[in-house]
Amino acid sequence: THGAEVLVASNRGPVSYEVLPDGSLNARRGGGGLVSGLSAIGPDAGAVWVCAALSEADREAARRFEGGRRLPAEATGGQQVRMLDIDAEVFSDAYNGIANSVLWFVHHMLYQTPLEPVFDAEFRRRWDSYVAYNRAFAEALAEEAAEGAAVLVQDYHLTLVPGMLRDFRPDVRIGHFSHTPWAPVEYFRMLPDDVAEQVLRGMLGADRLGFLTQRWADAFAGCCEALVGGLGGTRVGVHALGADAEFLRERADRSDVKERMLALREEIGVAPDGGPRKTIVRVDRTELSKNIVRGLLAYRQLLADHPEWRERVVHVAFAYPSRQDLAVYREYTDEVQRLAQEINEEYGTPTWRPVALHVKDDFARSLAAYRIADVALVNPIRDGMNLVAKEVPVVSDSGCALVLSREAGAYAELGDDALVVNPYDVVGTAEALHRALGMPGAERAERTKRLAAAATALPPTRWFLDQLEQLEHLPG
Ligand code: G6P
Repeated sequence: THGAEVLVASNRGPVSYEVLPDGSLNARRGGGGLVSGLSAIGPDAGAVWVCAALSEADREAARRFEGGRRLPAEATGGQQVRMLDIDAEVFSDAYNGIANSVLWFVHHMLYQTPLEPVFDAEFRRRWDSYVAYNRAFAEALAEEAAEGAAVLVQDYHLTLVPGMLRDFRPDVRIGHFSHTPWAPVEYFRMLPDDVAEQVLRGMLGADRLGFLTQRWADAFAGCCEALVGGLGGTRVGVHALGADAEFLRERADRSDVKERMLALREEIGVAPDGGPRKTIVRVDRTELSKNIVRGLLAYRQLLADHPEWRERVVHVAFAYPSRQDLAVYREYTDEVQRLAQEINEEYGTPTWRPVALHVKDDFARSLAAYRIADVALVNPIRDGMNLVAKEVPVVSDSGCALVLSREAGAYAELGDDALVVNPYDVVGTAEALHRALGMPGAERAERTKRLAAAATALPPTRWFLDQLEQLEHLPG
């Protein structure tokens, strides 16, 4: 067989497809922190990437191209990809119904606990789909892996894969990496006992587990101590994924980014004294945990408490659509738009729109905003790492003050030079924005330089190779 020596498994893969009007399939790059981090693997690494078909177009591609085997390289940009054509309902129950509604909610502590969660018979039905979806991954990996191969499983979608794969293929080395926070045991044990145990035991099927910060690794170890009698033989490591400076700087210097900088400057406009307006930039998936609504409330508080900033600042907020199959995400998206409009109606003038909200995903425009930002607002209520906080200082043209939540994983590395906020404290966040806007240029530039150094300490390629090496050098 032509088994692979290195395999990666994740729900979202490096490409997804859309059907064009003429019936042909167009490949697009996937979004989010996981894919950004792993994209550094590139086709040259020779790794096979196993992922799920996420849409009808993906399932169509999986069937049309591979008939159950790997996609042809010309359809993926060179990467070797095996895209799993999982039954649409099983997939949706596992991805929407369990991974994004239950496991994501637990680790980000998003439940409104007087009413949620309710683990009823419907939940049990979906859980069975989650098990089947994990088994589909484990079977594909077992089929693709060479003798003694290294398999790197990613994230909360695939917690059961390590245990299942261990049963199918005792010869392979298995790693699992969590791109999210891990819930403290008091919160984690809201899951039904047997489900909590399956998740932990599934992950402990791996030889090595990776987390983004010590805080999440400790929380996982705490859950294992309390619920399954410890970590057993599984090792736990911390790998703080950093920004890819080389890629970002090269990409941010291209003409499409420069065009978007001009367009943004035009949209932001000039202050009454003729000077440029200040910009507070945020870039997120429209994601409950990113705390976009409180960010807008803090901006409104800033304009109320510090009228000197009116007409002199614009909040550039990019909130890209995410997980729109889930009603709570659609409602959250509406709330973000409603609030932005309300602030514009309350404070706007014929010459000034206080909030520039954009929802159409555009990476070049994100980079343009990073370059011109005076202040970056990164205020999640909980976040595994947050790569935006690391990307901004790397590409900033003349220094950018970072207002950063202490609940983001990135805080562990960037806390010293950011203005740190409690994400629930809207008044405190407004004051941090005020301080950030008033920060002298020289101080801002100095801090940005140190932030960029910290943000790039572990570039994605090394982040990946370190884990691979650790896995390959395990005894036994
Ligand atoms: C987070 C998760 C990733 C996920 C990404 C985008 O970063 O850790 O696993 O891919 O969000 O979310 P989506 O549901 O669109 O894949």
